[in-house]
Amino acid sequence: MSDFQPLVFSGVQPTGNLHLGNYLGAIRKFVALQENNDCIYCVVDLHAITAQLVHDDMPGQIRAIAAAFIASGIDPKKHIVFNQSAVPQHAELAWIFNCVARIGWMNRMTQFKDKAGKDRENASLGLFAYPSLMAADILVYRATHVPVGDDQKQHLELARDIAQKFNNDFSEHIRRAGHGIDTMVGEEAVHAFFPTVEPLIDGPAPRVMSLRDGTKKMSKSDASDLSRVNLMDDAETISKKIRKAKTDPDALPSEVDGLKGRPEADNLVGIYAALSDKTKEQVLSEFGGQQFSVFKPALVDLSVAVLAPITGEMRRLMDDTSHIDGILRNGGERARARAEKTMKQVREIIGFLQ
Ligand code: TYM
Repeated sequence: MSDFQPLVFSGVQPTGNLHLGNYLGAIRKFVALQENNDCIYCVVDLHAITAQLVHDDMPGQIRAIAAAFIASGIDPKKHIVFNQSAVPQHAELAWIFNCVARIGWMNRMTQFKDKAGKDRENASLGLFAYPSLMAADILVYRATHVPVGDDQKQHLELARDIAQKFNNDFSEHIRRAGHGIDTMVGEEAVHAFFPTVEPLIDGPAPRVMSLRDGTKKMSKSDASDLSRVNLMDDAETISKKIRKAKTDPDALPSEVDGLKGRPEADNLVGIYAALSDKTKEQVLSEFGGQQFSVFKPALVDLSVAVLAPITGEMRRLMDDTSHIDGILRNGGERARARAEKTMKQVREIIGFLQ
């Protein structure tokens, strides 16, 4: 019984400022995973035009995400860093997945409802079909593991549904073409072309919350810049934002259970834990019983110590556009070769002449 080759894939949209949520929920995990895995990290520019079609500085936004990946420690020689539109096979597979996925599945996507808001009729068709493209991003490499923040969980469940339906509907064709792999889905032995994607959402900060409201996700689109720490913020700004972060009047508890019903305290402890590669338990064993007047300065120091070198390196890289463009071009070529290998097989399975 063989199984799918482990492969990590993830993507980040080139829209707006990257913030601490993107860093802790995604990019920091990308860096950790590259030690023991084959990884592909993508700047998903095709996704960026779903909510807003026209962007003032698309090239700059794409380069900024690539720079953030590299400044955070991703090695673009060992792994692949590229921008999505350089590999047209993503869009080709997304079209096929549009025909696999059901409208009813898409209608259940909470992120579409949030992003489309009240004026659903006026949202782009691309925004509605977005999860199909996201499934294609992953499955065009037959990737097995996807590090993301908690907000992407539902999209990854949909990617699993799409893969499963493709495997089922084309099972005879997959056998005939000889491209399937024997694997397990739960307890069941199956012959599959696409793997069952495993989301990697764990860690102490899977959902970093707004610094102004512990019940709202930290987000690029929040009107208040004080709600988030941006990756490009300088030390003084980081310090101001954390000092102004909403808290409650109590001291920190000694046990994680004591964070229940205290979303702001929970969020700041989670951030501290993720930035220091500790658990929340370990953070509370150090700070339990302390007031925020002690904890916040420690969090400022830690945040600046972790982020300042990344910000500095990002700025340096963004000044050297030909270097970044070279990395993306090289990554794009390598990604394209891999994606085309899958697509040749997909076309053969479906029966398209090529
Ligand atoms: P995007 O660009 O909105 O966000 C990039 C990554 O950051 C995570 N994230 C957070 N994590 C914790 N707390 C937060 N407050 C927070 N805000 C954002 C996101 O979960 C994400 O991991 N659809 C994706 C991009 C995408 C993708 C893919 C991801 C396209 N194709 C294929 C994985 C695999 C998105 O819009 O992420």
